[in-house]
Amino acid sequence: MKILGISAHYHDSAAALVVDGMPVCAVQEERLSRKKGDAGFPLSAIEWCLDREKLEPSDLDAVVFYERGMLKFDRILTCTLRAFPRSWRSFPHAMKNTLGEKVWVRGIIASHLGVPRSKILFTDHHASHAAAAFLTAPTTRAAIMTADGVGEWATLTVGRGERRADGGTHITLSREIRFPHSLGMLYSTFTAYLGFKVNEDEYKVMGLASYGRPTMMEQLQKVVRRLPDGGFALVPEYFEFQTTADRSYSSKFVDLFGPPRHPYDPIDVHSSEGQRLADCAASVQRMVEEILVDIAARLRRETGLRDLCFAGGVALNGVANARILREAGFDRVFVPPAPGDAGCALGAALYADRIYFRNPDRAVPDHPFWGPAVDGHELARAAREDSQDVDELDETRLIERVADDLAAGRIVGWMDGASEFGPRALGHRSLLAAPQSADTRDRLNRDIKRREEFRPFAPVVPAERADRFFDLPAGGARLARYMSGVFPVREEWRSRLAAVTHVDGSARVQVLERDMAPRLHALLEAYGRRTGVPVLLNTSFNVAGEPIVTHALEGYLTFRRCGIDTLVAGSTVVTKLAGTPAESLKESGAWASSTEAASTVV
Ligand SMILES: [Fe+2]
Repeated sequence: MKILGISAHYHDSAAALVVDGMPVCAVQEERLSRKKGDAGFPLSAIEWCLDREKLEPSDLDAVVFYERGMLKFDRILTCTLRAFPRSWRSFPHAMKNTLGEKVWVRGIIASHLGVPRSKILFTDHHASHAAAAFLTAPTTRAAIMTADGVGEWATLTVGRGERRADGGTHITLSREIRFPHSLGMLYSTFTAYLGFKVNEDEYKVMGLASYGRPTMMEQLQKVVRRLPDGGFALVPEYFEFQTTADRSYSSKFVDLFGPPRHPYDPIDVHSSEGQRLADCAASVQRMVEEILVDIAARLRRETGLRDLCFAGGVALNGVANARILREAGFDRVFVPPAPGDAGCALGAALYADRIYFRNPDRAVPDHPFWGPAVDGHELARAAREDSQDVDELDETRLIERVADDLAAGRIVGWMDGASEFGPRALGHRSLLAAPQSADTRDRLNRDIKRREEFRPFAPVVPAERADRFFDLPAGGARLARYMSGVFPVREEWRSRLAAVTHVDGSARVQVLERDMAPRLHALLEAYGRRTGVPVLLNTSFNVAGEPIVTHALEGYLTFRRCGIDTLVAGSTVVTKLAGTPAESLKESGAWASSTEAASTVV
């Protein structure tokens, strides 16, 4: 049976294909359209999925959309009516931007793909999240928690999943918290208030939080009421997202927390204003953590289950995930590599396969590499035409050569096999660098990522060696498989891992099992033989404002535009020449500084 899953029209559109119960491919639209956060109908992603499996749309048994458009329409209409007359202006805006084409999704899918309407199915938004978490995790019985901004009505659900011995699969979401009471919206409101981009920059709030202290919990308790049943309610007069699309917080919110930050104002965490903003971030972070830990701990007690599967945009919060693991009583916490709405494309397809069609359970491979593969020969051709220094090496020599480059302080663009599904580079589309020096971090921030100095980079370490450098609780390595947890760097290593240790001594570490990405694992070991520290800085292979690179050519163009020194795809290694003509690079504003930086390490 061939089932296509689609998520679209909000943010992070994606498509995923499940054939005979197994995922075969999945990709976000942005990785192909090259428009960051592309929310359009994912035609390129669908075409790529079908092409890869040599299928025509008519071969599909079902196309599953990740949520129910009409229920979402119902929420927007109800909220607008409840808030009338304050909301009447925002209704057309909400219809266009939030709902967009969703109501008419069946017709859109039918006309784009030419499939009969009877083959088009819908799942509940949070059922898609739940399936993305539970049906990809190596567990047979688990509690399930989902949390995001909002689906149709639900913003947080709890329940359980079970794969039975007879092959039947069950997912029951027994309780939910409904819009406008939403941890995702609470966090996004603070994201906007702190001058960051909503639905994109939430992780900056988490990064900034480490510079502050939760000194505003009293104010937070005014805007978020905790309920005796473990739930919570946002106090409506502090928020406006439920009534207008223009601003998410009210003037009363500003009275309570102070003036919002303008997006163009720099954040200096050493100034009193910067400290206020950091304290604000720390306070909302603490509040979200405490609510999640509380709900998860109750779920543990109610279900008696030892595993928790957690998805939804809120599950991208690695600090909260680590607290859930440590404090809620579960042995293992599984967060999928794509916990946000893109992951719902795969979740919806798996949900339809196991639950709607009642196909027998299949164990899903435990890796994130479902996207397009990179072609080393394509890289070699492009680089040679551009008169760059190209080597095609056997595996051993390639690993040793790249390890030498990293040990010499060079920044490496590393492309290997199929790309990751989800927002994080987990070893197939990564920028790698030595983790020892804060200079490397600053150079990456300045020349390549062009981002705020308070943003930390993440380390990757072989699973066998993780405990030496990182203080991982029981179950920590599992949570760190897909970089879903933030854990302390051991005190004695913090100064020697300065580029990947956050200001509070923590790191969003990826703990790498050899089987998942054997080439990166070999590279870590080779780097460890040279430096005594088998740890590398690992950040996504993209520049600011662009999606992560997918194909060799995108990697090559990025390499040519910024301060990456060495580029690898397949067996091809390209080294940036000291005398690369500035002519072809003059478009890039970063070139002057990257030449300077490169010359200091070559
Ligand atoms: Fe969601």
